[in-house]
Amino acid sequence: MSHRNARMIIDKELKIAQIDKRIYGSFIEHLGRAVYNGIYQPGHMTADEDGFRKDVMELVKELEVPIIRYPGGNFVSNFYWEDSVGPKEDRKKRLELAWRSLETNEFGLNEFSKWTKKVDSEIMMAVNLGTRGISDACNLLEYCNHESGSYYSDLRISHGYQEPHKVKTWCLGNEMDGPWQIGHKTAKEYGRLAEETAKAMKLIDPSIELVTCGSSNIQMPTFPEWEATTLDYTYDYVDYISLHQYYGNADNDTEDFLALTQDLEEFLHTVIAACDYIKAKKRSKKKMNLSFDEWNVWFHAMQEDSETMEKRPWQIAPHLLEDIYTFEDALLVGLILITFLKHSDRVKMACLAQLVNVIAPIMTDNEGGAWKQSIFYPFMQVSKYGRGTALVPVMNVTKHDTAKHIDVTDVESIAVYNEEKEEVTIFAVNRNTKENVAFDADLRGFVDYRILEYSVMEQEDMKAVNLLNKETVRPVSKTAYRFEDGKFETVLGKCSWNVIRFGK
Ligand code: AHR
Repeated sequence: MSHRNARMIIDKELKIAQIDKRIYGSFIEHLGRAVYNGIYQPGHMTADEDGFRKDVMELVKELEVPIIRYPGGNFVSNFYWEDSVGPKEDRKKRLELAWRSLETNEFGLNEFSKWTKKVDSEIMMAVNLGTRGISDACNLLEYCNHESGSYYSDLRISHGYQEPHKVKTWCLGNEMDGPWQIGHKTAKEYGRLAEETAKAMKLIDPSIELVTCGSSNIQMPTFPEWEATTLDYTYDYVDYISLHQYYGNADNDTEDFLALTQDLEEFLHTVIAACDYIKAKKRSKKKMNLSFDEWNVWFHAMQEDSETMEKRPWQIAPHLLEDIYTFEDALLVGLILITFLKHSDRVKMACLAQLVNVIAPIMTDNEGGAWKQSIFYPFMQVSKYGRGTALVPVMNVTKHDTAKHIDVTDVESIAVYNEEKEEVTIFAVNRNTKENVAFDADLRGFVDYRILEYSVMEQEDMKAVNLLNKETVRPVSKTAYRFEDGKFETVLGKCSWNVIRFGK
Protein backbone atom coordinates (compact mmCIF):
# COMPACT_ATOMS: atom_id res chain seq x y z
CA MET A 1 0.00 0.00 0.00
CA SER A 2 1.44 3.34 -1.04
CA HIS A 3 1.80 6.08 1.57
CA ARG A 4 1.03 8.54 -1.21
CA ASN A 5 -2.54 9.73 -1.25
CA ALA A 6 -4.91 12.31 -2.62
CA ARG A 7 -8.29 13.01 -1.05
CA MET A 8 -10.80 15.14 -2.83
CA ILE A 9 -14.17 16.65 -1.91
CA ILE A 10 -16.51 17.66 -4.71
CA ASP A 11 -19.48 19.81 -3.87
CA LYS A 12 -21.97 21.29 -6.34
CA GLU A 13 -22.11 24.49 -4.35
CA LEU A 14 -18.35 25.12 -4.44
CA LYS A 15 -18.01 26.66 -7.88
CA ILE A 16 -15.01 28.24 -9.55
CA ALA A 17 -16.89 29.43 -12.63
CA GLN A 18 -19.01 28.51 -15.58
CA ILE A 19 -16.42 27.28 -18.09
CA ASP A 20 -16.20 29.27 -21.30
CA LYS A 21 -16.08 26.55 -23.95
CA ARG A 22 -13.55 28.65 -25.88
CA ILE A 23 -10.82 27.40 -23.53
CA TYR A 24 -10.87 24.37 -25.83
CA GLY A 25 -9.80 26.46 -28.82
CA SER A 26 -6.94 25.71 -31.18
CA PHE A 27 -4.82 27.38 -33.83
CA ILE A 28 -4.07 27.11 -37.55
CA GLU A 29 -1.15 29.17 -38.83
CA HIS A 30 0.18 29.41 -42.36
CA LEU A 31 3.23 27.45 -41.28
CA GLY A 32 4.69 24.20 -42.55
CA ARG A 33 1.99 21.69 -43.46
CA ALA A 34 -0.80 23.09 -41.25
CA VAL A 35 -2.79 24.54 -44.14
CA TYR A 36 -1.28 23.01 -47.28
CA ASN A 37 -1.32 19.19 -47.06
CA GLY A 38 -2.94 19.57 -43.65
CA ILE A 39 -6.45 20.95 -43.74
CA TYR A 40 -6.31 21.73 -47.48
CA GLN A 41 -5.08 19.30 -50.11
CA PRO A 42 -6.99 19.28 -53.39
CA GLY A 43 -6.25 15.99 -55.11
CA HIS A 44 -6.00 14.02 -51.87
CA MET A 45 -8.23 10.94 -51.89
CA THR A 46 -10.41 12.40 -49.11
CA ALA A 47 -10.57 15.99 -50.45
CA ASP A 48 -14.06 17.47 -50.77
CA GLU A 49 -15.29 19.92 -53.43
CA ASP A 50 -13.32 22.74 -51.73
CA GLY A 51 -10.11 20.75 -51.47
CA PHE A 52 -10.53 20.27 -47.70
CA ARG A 53 -9.35 16.90 -46.38
CA LYS A 54 -12.37 15.07 -45.00
CA ASP A 55 -10.25 12.72 -42.88
CA VAL A 56 -8.77 15.76 -41.10
CA MET A 57 -12.17 17.42 -40.69
CA GLU A 58 -13.49 14.27 -39.00
CA LEU A 59 -10.67 14.32 -36.44
CA VAL A 60 -11.04 18.07 -35.84
CA LYS A 61 -14.74 17.51 -35.18
CA GLU A 62 -13.88 14.78 -32.69
CA LEU A 63 -11.91 17.36 -30.70
CA GLU A 64 -14.96 19.68 -30.58
CA VAL A 65 -12.85 22.82 -31.00
CA PRO A 66 -15.13 25.86 -30.64
CA ILE A 67 -12.71 28.56 -31.87
CA ILE A 68 -9.60 28.50 -34.07
CA ARG A 69 -6.97 31.26 -34.18
CA TYR A 70 -5.82 32.26 -37.68
CA PRO A 71 -3.67 33.03 -39.74
CA GLY A 72 -0.78 33.36 -37.24
CA GLY A 73 1.33 33.43 -35.13
CA ASN A 74 4.53 34.95 -36.35
CA PHE A 75 3.17 34.62 -39.90
CA VAL A 76 0.60 37.37 -39.34
CA SER A 77 3.18 40.06 -38.67
CA ASN A 78 4.05 40.34 -42.36
CA PHE A 79 0.76 39.13 -43.82
CA TYR A 80 -1.02 41.08 -46.54
CA TRP A 81 -4.55 39.74 -46.24
CA GLU A 82 -5.61 41.15 -49.63
CA ASP A 83 -3.22 38.65 -51.27
CA SER A 84 -5.30 35.78 -49.91
CA VAL A 85 -8.72 36.72 -51.33
CA GLY A 86 -10.29 36.95 -54.78
CA PRO A 87 -9.70 34.73 -57.82
CA LYS A 88 -7.06 32.11 -57.02
CA GLU A 89 -5.23 32.60 -60.32
CA ASP A 90 -4.56 36.26 -59.44
CA ARG A 91 -3.19 35.62 -55.98
CA LYS A 92 0.39 36.64 -55.31
CA LYS A 93 3.08 34.24 -54.23
CA ARG A 94 5.01 35.81 -51.36
CA LEU A 95 8.21 35.18 -49.49
CA GLU A 96 6.97 34.28 -46.02
CA LEU A 97 9.57 35.71 -43.67
CA ALA A 98 8.62 34.27 -40.28
CA TRP A 99 9.18 30.68 -41.37
CA ARG A 100 11.24 31.40 -44.52
CA SER A 101 8.77 29.54 -46.74
CA LEU A 102 6.89 30.33 -49.95
CA GLU A 103 3.26 31.33 -49.43
CA THR A 104 1.13 30.70 -52.52
CA ASN A 105 -2.02 32.26 -51.02
CA GLU A 106 -4.04 29.54 -52.74
CA PHE A 107 -5.85 29.16 -49.41
CA GLY A 108 -6.92 32.39 -47.74
CA LEU A 109 -9.34 33.87 -45.31
CA ASN A 110 -12.56 33.12 -47.20
CA GLU A 111 -11.53 29.49 -47.56
CA PHE A 112 -10.68 29.39 -43.86
CA SER A 113 -14.07 30.80 -42.95
CA LYS A 114 -15.74 28.11 -45.05
CA TRP A 115 -13.60 25.41 -43.47
CA THR A 116 -14.31 26.53 -39.88
CA LYS A 117 -18.04 26.27 -40.58
CA LYS A 118 -17.58 22.75 -41.89
CA VAL A 119 -15.84 21.73 -38.65
CA ASP A 120 -18.48 23.49 -36.47
CA SER A 121 -16.07 26.11 -35.21
CA GLU A 122 -15.46 29.83 -35.44
CA ILE A 123 -12.54 32.12 -36.20
CA MET A 124 -10.32 34.05 -33.83
CA MET A 125 -8.67 36.42 -36.33
CA ALA A 126 -5.30 38.07 -35.82
CA VAL A 127 -4.37 41.37 -37.50
CA ASN A 128 -0.92 42.41 -38.64
CA LEU A 129 0.48 45.01 -36.25
CA GLY A 130 4.06 44.17 -37.25
CA THR A 131 4.54 45.59 -40.72
CA ARG A 132 1.06 47.16 -40.93
CA GLY A 133 -1.25 49.14 -38.73
CA ILE A 134 -4.60 50.78 -38.05
CA SER A 135 -5.94 51.23 -41.57
CA ASP A 136 -5.18 47.68 -42.74
CA ALA A 137 -6.75 46.20 -39.62
CA CYS A 138 -9.84 48.33 -40.25
CA ASN A 139 -10.01 47.32 -43.90
CA LEU A 140 -9.81 43.65 -42.98
CA LEU A 141 -12.56 44.05 -40.39
CA GLU A 142 -14.75 45.89 -42.90
CA TYR A 143 -14.14 43.10 -45.44
CA CYS A 144 -15.06 40.40 -42.91
CA ASN A 145 -17.89 41.89 -40.87
CA HIS A 146 -19.61 44.75 -42.69
CA GLU A 147 -22.83 43.74 -44.47
CA SER A 148 -22.48 45.65 -47.75
CA GLY A 149 -22.37 49.07 -49.39
CA SER A 150 -18.75 49.95 -48.58
CA TYR A 151 -15.64 49.31 -50.66
CA TYR A 152 -14.30 46.33 -48.69
CA SER A 153 -17.66 44.72 -47.90
CA ASP A 154 -18.59 44.93 -51.58
CA LEU A 155 -15.20 43.48 -52.47
CA ARG A 156 -16.02 40.45 -50.31
CA ILE A 157 -19.37 40.10 -52.02
CA SER A 158 -17.66 40.32 -55.42
CA HIS A 159 -15.45 37.42 -54.27
CA GLY A 160 -18.56 35.29 -53.83
CA TYR A 161 -19.21 35.78 -50.11
CA GLN A 162 -22.53 37.61 -49.82
CA GLU A 163 -22.83 37.04 -46.09
CA PRO A 164 -20.30 38.69 -43.76
CA HIS A 165 -18.07 36.29 -41.87
CA LYS A 166 -19.08 37.92 -38.56
CA VAL A 167 -15.76 37.28 -36.85
CA LYS A 168 -16.28 38.13 -33.20
CA THR A 169 -12.82 37.74 -31.69
CA TRP A 170 -9.75 39.66 -32.93
CA CYS A 171 -6.13 39.55 -31.76
CA LEU A 172 -4.24 42.84 -31.96
CA GLY A 173 -1.05 41.42 -33.46
CA ASN A 174 1.06 38.53 -32.25
CA GLU A 175 3.91 38.31 -29.72
CA MET A 176 4.86 41.93 -30.30
CA ASP A 177 7.27 41.80 -27.32
CA GLY A 178 9.47 39.22 -29.10
CA PRO A 179 12.65 40.38 -30.87
CA TRP A 180 12.02 37.57 -33.42
CA GLN A 181 8.73 39.17 -34.41
CA ILE A 182 8.69 41.08 -37.68
CA GLY A 183 7.89 44.62 -36.65
CA HIS A 184 8.73 43.91 -32.98
CA LYS A 185 7.86 46.85 -30.71
CA THR A 186 8.63 48.22 -27.30
CA ALA A 187 5.80 48.11 -24.77
CA LYS A 188 5.07 51.82 -25.27
CA GLU A 189 5.11 51.58 -29.06
CA TYR A 190 2.82 48.57 -29.01
CA GLY A 191 0.54 49.98 -26.32
CA ARG A 192 -0.18 53.12 -28.33
CA LEU A 193 -0.66 51.27 -31.62
CA ALA A 194 -2.92 48.64 -30.05
CA GLU A 195 -4.97 51.32 -28.29
CA GLU A 196 -5.57 53.30 -31.47
CA THR A 197 -6.24 50.18 -33.55
CA ALA A 198 -8.71 48.90 -30.97
CA LYS A 199 -10.53 52.24 -30.87
CA ALA A 200 -10.91 52.36 -34.64
CA MET A 201 -11.95 48.72 -34.94
CA LYS A 202 -14.68 49.11 -32.33
CA LEU A 203 -16.03 52.09 -34.28
CA ILE A 204 -16.51 49.79 -37.28
CA ASP A 205 -18.04 46.94 -35.30
CA PRO A 206 -18.74 47.53 -31.59
CA SER A 207 -19.81 43.90 -31.15
CA ILE A 208 -16.29 42.51 -31.58
CA GLU A 209 -14.02 41.38 -28.75
CA LEU A 210 -10.35 42.33 -28.77
CA VAL A 211 -7.27 40.59 -27.40
CA THR A 212 -4.22 42.70 -26.60
CA CYS A 213 -0.77 41.05 -26.76
CA GLY A 214 0.71 39.96 -23.48
CA SER A 215 4.16 38.44 -23.11
CA SER A 216 5.35 35.63 -25.37
CA ASN A 217 6.31 33.57 -22.35
CA ILE A 218 7.08 33.90 -18.65
CA GLN A 219 10.84 34.01 -19.32
CA MET A 220 10.69 37.21 -21.41
CA PRO A 221 12.93 39.89 -19.83
CA THR A 222 10.12 42.42 -20.23
CA PHE A 223 7.59 40.26 -18.35
CA PRO A 224 5.52 41.46 -16.44
CA GLU A 225 6.34 45.12 -17.07
CA TRP A 226 5.06 44.59 -20.61
CA GLU A 227 1.59 43.70 -19.30
CA ALA A 228 1.40 46.72 -16.98
CA THR A 229 2.68 49.21 -19.57
CA THR A 230 0.61 48.02 -22.53
CA LEU A 231 -2.58 47.59 -20.50
CA ASP A 232 -2.21 51.12 -19.25
CA TYR A 233 -2.88 52.15 -22.86
CA THR A 234 -5.32 49.48 -23.98
CA TYR A 235 -7.36 48.65 -20.85
CA ASP A 236 -10.50 50.58 -21.79
CA TYR A 237 -10.65 49.26 -25.34
CA VAL A 238 -9.82 45.57 -25.09
CA ASP A 239 -11.48 42.55 -23.53
CA TYR A 240 -8.65 40.05 -23.03
CA ILE A 241 -4.90 39.93 -22.68
CA SER A 242 -3.03 37.08 -24.33
CA LEU A 243 -0.57 34.64 -22.77
CA HIS A 244 1.62 32.19 -24.68
CA GLN A 245 3.75 29.39 -23.30
CA TYR A 246 5.41 26.28 -24.69
CA TYR A 247 7.10 23.61 -22.60
CA GLY A 248 9.90 21.14 -23.31
CA ASN A 249 11.84 18.36 -21.67
CA ALA A 250 15.29 19.06 -23.11
CA ASP A 251 16.96 17.79 -19.89
CA ASN A 252 15.08 14.51 -20.19
CA ASP A 253 13.86 14.80 -16.60
CA THR A 254 10.27 13.53 -16.61
CA GLU A 255 9.66 14.31 -12.96
CA ASP A 256 10.62 17.94 -13.38
CA PHE A 257 8.85 18.22 -16.73
CA LEU A 258 5.58 17.16 -15.12
CA ALA A 259 6.05 19.85 -12.45
CA LEU A 260 6.01 22.63 -15.05
CA THR A 261 2.39 23.54 -14.39
CA GLN A 262 3.69 25.13 -11.19
CA ASP A 263 5.35 27.72 -13.46
CA LEU A 264 2.09 28.03 -15.37
CA GLU A 265 0.25 28.79 -12.11
CA GLU A 266 2.79 31.53 -11.39
CA PHE A 267 2.38 32.95 -14.90
CA LEU A 268 -1.41 33.09 -14.51
CA HIS A 269 -1.25 34.67 -11.05
CA THR A 270 1.16 37.35 -12.20
CA VAL A 271 -0.82 38.31 -15.30
CA ILE A 272 -4.04 38.43 -13.27
CA ALA A 273 -2.25 40.65 -10.73
CA ALA A 274 -1.04 42.99 -13.52
CA CYS A 275 -4.58 43.24 -14.93
CA ASP A 276 -6.04 43.98 -11.51
CA TYR A 277 -3.34 46.54 -10.77
CA ILE A 278 -4.23 48.51 -13.93
CA LYS A 279 -7.92 48.10 -13.12
CA ALA A 280 -7.32 49.69 -9.73
CA LYS A 281 -5.09 52.38 -11.18
CA LYS A 282 -7.80 53.37 -13.64
CA ARG A 283 -10.61 53.07 -11.08
CA SER A 284 -12.19 50.83 -13.70
CA LYS A 285 -15.20 48.58 -13.18
CA LYS A 286 -14.12 46.31 -15.98
CA LYS A 287 -12.50 42.91 -15.32
CA MET A 288 -9.80 41.96 -17.81
CA ASN A 289 -9.92 38.28 -18.74
CA LEU A 290 -7.20 36.03 -20.10
CA SER A 291 -6.81 34.48 -23.53
CA PHE A 292 -4.11 31.78 -23.36
CA ASP A 293 -4.03 31.67 -27.11
CA GLU A 294 -0.89 29.60 -27.65
CA TRP A 295 0.11 26.69 -25.45
CA ASN A 296 1.56 23.21 -25.89
CA VAL A 297 4.70 21.11 -25.66
CA TRP A 298 7.20 22.23 -28.29
CA PHE A 299 10.84 21.16 -28.45
CA HIS A 300 11.24 17.85 -30.27
CA ALA A 301 11.77 19.14 -33.81
CA MET A 302 13.46 22.49 -33.11
CA GLN A 303 16.95 21.55 -34.23
CA GLU A 304 15.70 20.09 -37.52
CA ASP A 305 13.51 23.15 -38.11
CA SER A 306 16.38 25.63 -37.75
CA GLU A 307 18.30 23.65 -40.35
CA THR A 308 15.36 23.58 -42.77
CA MET A 309 14.78 27.32 -42.48
CA GLU A 310 18.45 28.16 -42.75
CA LYS A 311 19.61 25.71 -45.41
CA ARG A 312 16.49 24.97 -47.45
CA PRO A 313 14.32 28.12 -47.37
CA TRP A 314 11.40 29.18 -49.58
CA GLN A 315 9.73 25.79 -49.88
CA ILE A 316 5.98 25.43 -50.18
CA ALA A 317 4.56 23.56 -47.16
CA PRO A 318 7.87 22.27 -45.77
CA HIS A 319 7.92 19.84 -42.85
CA LEU A 320 8.26 22.27 -39.95
CA LEU A 321 7.49 21.97 -36.21
CA GLU A 322 6.39 18.36 -36.72
CA ASP A 323 6.96 17.33 -33.11
CA ILE A 324 6.05 13.70 -32.50
CA TYR A 325 4.49 13.63 -29.06
CA THR A 326 5.32 11.13 -26.36
CA PHE A 327 3.18 9.72 -23.58
CA GLU A 328 4.74 12.13 -21.05
CA ASP A 329 3.81 15.05 -23.33
CA ALA A 330 0.20 13.88 -23.17
CA LEU A 331 0.40 13.92 -19.35
CA LEU A 332 1.61 17.51 -19.41
CA VAL A 333 -1.19 18.50 -21.80
CA GLY A 334 -3.67 17.00 -19.31
CA LEU A 335 -2.01 18.90 -16.44
CA ILE A 336 -2.18 22.18 -18.38
CA LEU A 337 -5.88 21.70 -19.09
CA ILE A 338 -6.55 21.01 -15.40
CA THR A 339 -4.68 24.23 -14.57
CA PHE A 340 -6.82 26.23 -17.00
CA LEU A 341 -9.98 24.78 -15.45
CA LYS A 342 -8.73 25.76 -11.99
CA HIS A 343 -8.49 29.32 -13.30
CA SER A 344 -11.62 29.29 -15.43
CA ASP A 345 -12.89 32.36 -13.59
CA ARG A 346 -10.26 34.38 -15.53
CA VAL A 347 -9.06 32.17 -18.41
CA LYS A 348 -11.90 32.50 -20.90
CA MET A 349 -10.13 31.46 -24.09
CA ALA A 350 -7.16 29.21 -24.80
CA CYS A 351 -5.75 27.75 -28.00
CA LEU A 352 -3.86 24.50 -28.19
CA ALA A 353 -1.08 25.42 -30.63
CA GLN A 354 -1.56 24.09 -33.09
CA LEU A 355 -4.16 21.80 -34.67
CA VAL A 356 -2.79 19.96 -37.70
CA ASN A 357 0.79 18.84 -38.51
CA VAL A 358 2.48 21.80 -36.77
CA ILE A 359 2.99 20.97 -33.03
CA ALA A 360 -0.37 19.33 -33.37
CA PRO A 361 -2.69 16.61 -32.06
CA ILE A 362 -3.57 15.66 -35.66
CA MET A 363 -1.01 14.60 -38.26
CA THR A 364 -1.37 13.79 -41.93
CA ASP A 365 0.50 11.81 -44.48
CA ASN A 366 0.58 13.63 -47.84
CA GLU A 367 -0.21 10.42 -49.71
CA GLY A 368 -2.03 8.56 -46.94
CA GLY A 369 -4.31 9.09 -43.97
CA ALA A 370 -4.57 11.26 -40.90
CA TRP A 371 -3.70 10.08 -37.39
CA LYS A 372 -3.90 11.02 -33.73
CA GLN A 373 -0.88 11.94 -31.64
CA SER A 374 -0.71 11.03 -27.93
CA ILE A 375 -1.85 14.55 -26.93
CA PHE A 376 -5.05 14.16 -28.96
CA TYR A 377 -6.69 12.09 -26.24
CA PRO A 378 -6.45 14.22 -23.09
CA PHE A 379 -7.42 17.27 -25.13
CA MET A 380 -10.40 15.48 -26.67
CA GLN A 381 -11.62 14.13 -23.34
CA VAL A 382 -11.41 17.45 -21.52
CA SER A 383 -12.99 19.31 -24.44
CA LYS A 384 -15.84 16.80 -24.52
CA TYR A 385 -16.47 16.26 -20.81
CA GLY A 386 -15.11 19.52 -19.40
CA ARG A 387 -18.19 21.56 -20.24
CA GLY A 388 -20.27 23.13 -17.50
CA THR A 389 -19.13 24.40 -14.10
CA ALA A 390 -15.63 23.92 -12.75
CA LEU A 391 -15.85 22.88 -9.10
CA VAL A 392 -13.33 23.93 -6.46
CA PRO A 393 -10.97 20.99 -5.98
CA VAL A 394 -10.86 20.70 -2.19
CA MET A 395 -7.76 18.52 -2.03
CA ASN A 396 -5.50 17.00 0.55
CA VAL A 397 -2.56 15.54 -1.31
CA THR A 398 0.99 14.35 -0.68
CA LYS A 399 3.83 16.21 -2.35
CA HIS A 400 7.35 15.70 -3.66
CA ASP A 401 10.29 17.82 -4.84
CA THR A 402 11.89 17.74 -8.27
CA ALA A 403 15.14 19.18 -9.67
CA LYS A 404 13.74 22.68 -10.11
CA HIS A 405 10.45 22.63 -8.20
CA ILE A 406 9.48 22.14 -4.58
CA ASP A 407 6.22 20.96 -3.00
CA VAL A 408 4.92 19.48 -6.21
CA THR A 409 1.53 17.84 -5.64
CA ASP A 410 1.54 14.13 -6.51
CA VAL A 411 -1.92 14.47 -8.00
CA GLU A 412 -3.53 17.35 -9.84
CA SER A 413 -7.26 17.03 -10.25
CA ILE A 414 -10.45 18.93 -10.95
CA ALA A 415 -14.12 18.07 -11.37
CA VAL A 416 -16.52 19.58 -13.88
CA TYR A 417 -20.27 19.51 -13.30
CA ASN A 418 -22.48 19.48 -16.37
CA GLU A 419 -25.86 20.47 -14.95
CA GLU A 420 -27.71 20.03 -18.21
CA LYS A 421 -26.61 16.42 -18.65
CA GLU A 422 -26.51 15.73 -14.90
CA GLU A 423 -22.96 14.46 -15.17
CA VAL A 424 -19.84 15.14 -13.19
CA THR A 425 -16.37 14.29 -14.47
CA ILE A 426 -13.12 14.09 -12.54
CA PHE A 427 -9.89 14.68 -14.45
CA ALA A 428 -6.80 13.56 -12.52
CA VAL A 429 -3.09 13.14 -13.23
CA ASN A 430 -0.76 11.24 -10.96
CA ARG A 431 2.52 12.96 -11.83
CA ASN A 432 4.58 11.02 -9.33
CA THR A 433 7.00 9.09 -11.53
CA LYS A 434 7.88 6.50 -8.89
CA GLU A 435 4.77 5.69 -6.91
CA ASN A 436 1.09 4.95 -7.24
CA VAL A 437 -1.24 7.19 -5.26
CA ALA A 438 -4.33 6.11 -3.31
CA PHE A 439 -7.14 8.39 -4.46
CA ASP A 440 -10.55 8.98 -2.97
CA ALA A 441 -13.26 11.44 -3.85
CA ASP A 442 -16.25 12.35 -1.73
CA LEU A 443 -19.05 13.26 -4.12
CA ARG A 444 -21.29 14.79 -1.48
CA GLY A 445 -24.56 16.12 -2.86
CA PHE A 446 -24.41 14.03 -6.02
CA VAL A 447 -27.11 11.65 -4.86
CA ASP A 448 -27.97 8.62 -7.01
CA TYR A 449 -25.03 9.10 -9.31
CA ARG A 450 -23.29 6.05 -10.77
CA ILE A 451 -20.07 5.59 -12.70
CA LEU A 452 -20.53 6.03 -16.43
CA GLU A 453 -16.94 5.46 -17.43
CA TYR A 454 -13.44 5.34 -16.00
CA SER A 455 -10.77 5.72 -18.64
CA VAL A 456 -7.05 5.78 -18.06
CA MET A 457 -3.87 6.37 -20.04
CA GLU A 458 -0.79 4.63 -18.64
CA GLN A 459 2.50 3.49 -20.20
CA GLU A 460 5.66 1.87 -18.94
CA ASP A 461 7.61 3.80 -21.56
CA MET A 462 7.33 7.58 -21.04
CA LYS A 463 8.60 8.08 -24.60
CA ALA A 464 5.94 5.91 -26.26
CA VAL A 465 4.47 7.61 -29.35
CA ASN A 466 1.75 7.06 -31.92
CA LEU A 467 2.51 6.92 -35.62
CA LEU A 468 0.54 6.56 -38.83
CA ASN A 469 -1.23 3.16 -38.53
CA LYS A 470 0.34 2.46 -35.13
CA GLU A 471 -1.49 3.72 -32.07
CA THR A 472 0.33 2.87 -28.84
CA VAL A 473 -0.92 5.68 -26.61
CA ARG A 474 -4.67 5.78 -26.09
CA PRO A 475 -7.14 5.63 -23.22
CA VAL A 476 -8.45 2.27 -22.05
CA SER A 477 -11.20 1.58 -19.57
CA LYS A 478 -10.40 0.69 -15.98
CA THR A 479 -12.47 -1.46 -13.66
CA ALA A 480 -10.35 -1.41 -10.50
CA TYR A 481 -12.26 1.05 -8.31
CA ARG A 482 -14.97 1.18 -5.62
CA PHE A 483 -17.93 3.51 -5.58
CA GLU A 484 -20.28 3.26 -2.60
CA ASP A 485 -22.46 5.84 -0.82
CA GLY A 486 -20.99 8.68 -2.86
CA LYS A 487 -17.41 7.72 -1.99
CA PHE A 488 -15.11 6.84 -4.85
CA GLU A 489 -11.83 5.01 -4.30
CA THR A 490 -9.09 3.82 -6.58
CA VAL A 491 -5.34 3.76 -6.97
CA LEU A 492 -3.92 6.13 -9.57
CA GLY A 493 -1.00 4.44 -11.26
CA LYS A 494 2.28 6.39 -11.33
CA CYS A 495 2.30 8.68 -14.35
CA SER A 496 -1.32 8.23 -15.32
CA TRP A 497 -4.08 10.30 -16.91
CA ASN A 498 -7.52 9.50 -15.48
CA VAL A 499 -11.03 10.51 -16.52
CA ILE A 500 -13.82 9.36 -14.22
CA ARG A 501 -17.36 10.16 -15.33
CA PHE A 502 -20.41 9.97 -13.07
CA GLY A 503 -24.03 10.41 -14.10
CA LYS A 504 -27.57 9.56 -13.16
O1 AHR B 1 3.02 28.30 -32.81
C1 AHR B 1 4.28 28.52 -33.34
C2 AHR B 1 4.79 29.94 -33.07
O2 AHR B 1 5.02 30.12 -31.71
C3 AHR B 1 3.85 31.06 -33.42
O3 AHR B 1 3.91 31.42 -34.74
C4 AHR B 1 4.35 32.17 -32.55
O4 AHR B 1 3.33 33.07 -32.20
C5 AHR B 1 4.96 31.47 -31.37
O5 AHR B 1 6.22 31.93 -31.07
